[in-house]
Amino acid sequence: MKDKLIIFDTTLRDGEQSPGASMTKDEKLRIAKSLEKMHVDIIEAGFPIASPGDFEAVKAVAESVTESTVCGLARALDKDIDRAAEALKPAYSSRIHTFLATSPIHMREKLRMEPEQVVEQAVHAVKRAKNYTDNVEFSPEDAGRSDFDFLCRVIEATIDAGATTINIPDTVGYNLPQFFGQLIGDLIENIPNSDKAIFSVHCHNDLGLAVGNSLAAVLNGARQVECTINGLGERAGNAALEEIVMSVRTRRDIFSCDSELDTTQIIHCSRLVSTITGFPVQPNKAIVGANAFAHESGIHQDGVLKSRETYEIMRAEDVGWNANRMVLGKHSGRNAFRSRLEELGIKFEKEEDLNSTFARFKDLADKKHEIFDDDLQALVSNTLQESADEWIKLVSIKASIETGEKPKAEITLSLGGEEKRAFAEGGGPVDATFKAIESMIESGCDLQLYSVNNITTGTDSQGEVTVRIGKDGRIVNGLGADTDIVTASAKAYINALNKVFAKSERAHPQV
Ligand code: KIV
Ligand code: ZN
Repeated sequence: MKDKLIIFDTTLRDGEQSPGASMTKDEKLRIAKSLEKMHVDIIEAGFPIASPGDFEAVKAVAESVTESTVCGLARALDKDIDRAAEALKPAYSSRIHTFLATSPIHMREKLRMEPEQVVEQAVHAVKRAKNYTDNVEFSPEDAGRSDFDFLCRVIEATIDAGATTINIPDTVGYNLPQFFGQLIGDLIENIPNSDKAIFSVHCHNDLGLAVGNSLAAVLNGARQVECTINGLGERAGNAALEEIVMSVRTRRDIFSCDSELDTTQIIHCSRLVSTITGFPVQPNKAIVGANAFAHESGIHQDGVLKSRETYEIMRAEDVGWNANRMVLGKHSGRNAFRSRLEELGIKFEKEEDLNSTFARFKDLADKKHEIFDDDLQALVSNTLQESADEWIKLVSIKASIETGEKPKAEITLSLGGEEKRAFAEGGGPVDATFKAIESMIESGCDLQLYSVNNITTGTDSQGEVTVRIGKDGRIVNGLGADTDIVTASAKAYINALNKVFAKSERAHPQV
């Protein structure tokens, strides 16, 4: 019998801390349902004290997820812990994750606290959280740069106070696999009550070692890994869930534990996170990149045709490639449409949102005869964007190109309910479109990224456009999908503008 490796997903919390990756409550719910379907053990749904929106999102996830434990993050402060507990109240199974920095630099420069005070506050926080739930996780933040003896003291004291999971974060991605693995082994061996808690790791990818460090920790006794879909996360990101899970499963000859994940859900979840956050997956990304199972060289192709094991260590279908099957066609009815959405974990709060998504689906089915799950996700994103109470809405677009003529665009927007129209020329139709929009909005934003991906294959596929813009240090991503990429671009740009002007008063947990 192998030990269980607990998978703790923090896409909705640490993943959301990536600049521009902020998600709405509905978007978080869709991702949470997909994680639940994949049998993720613990879903860290957010940092409830950050803002009323964050609180509501954690609460909504707690209300709708029943198969996974729902976790909320809290600094080691009473008000954070109380707020997290409040948001998690409806959860079938909940966890409070509280943390306090233990490295000399964090204690001195950030907390301005003496080590004694840190121990005391950490113990107090764990006890406070225990008043609400038995399931309490404590993280000594920046453990990867903390003094070993001090770390042992804090951990022993917090386990005594009732922490059931001790998470060792390599907060700044500074560690190397051999030493990080050894650190975990040494902590487990030297802390007298270490058998009373599960040891977990949370690695950042600043040196590209988040997965390597996490796996080294697992080989040395860690039995929970904190990770995110596609490796999303603060700065260079967190350890990628799909890489951890598939490494452990593929190398079952080496690992004495395994997760209980349904890996066939990986691709679907990866696409969903990429679509919602606007962070495209690089083609050569392990497991979920478009080329991860593609063989270009003739020798490889020949080998794979004779026996796939010659060059393939995993089966594409085991991670969900090919599962994006054609779901519905032009003649599918509203009930079939609704039940497929429900199978994907999508349930609209408002009936009119279902109706308008169904109308969009019919429209798309006229243009493109095969409709895939990823198409449906894009349609749902479009509906939710449009039904949100946003100040800028696209009313209509007319763009043209002609050999020898300058590309042109004429755009009508609704600005807080009032219609405005503008015309512009540009280097191409997308450029002309953005110029026309800017002539009405004068946002003062700088465009940092513009990218187009096709959602499925073929020239009739929907194009998915990601736009990243920045203003006064704030960075947001906008997304838009349409079979016409100029329209998709306009939608993405408007989505980003609405986000940049939305008031944001969120607290960052680690600042
Ligand atoms: O990276 C980190 O240290 C964190 C903690 C809050 C666990 O995200
Ligand atoms: Zn982190």
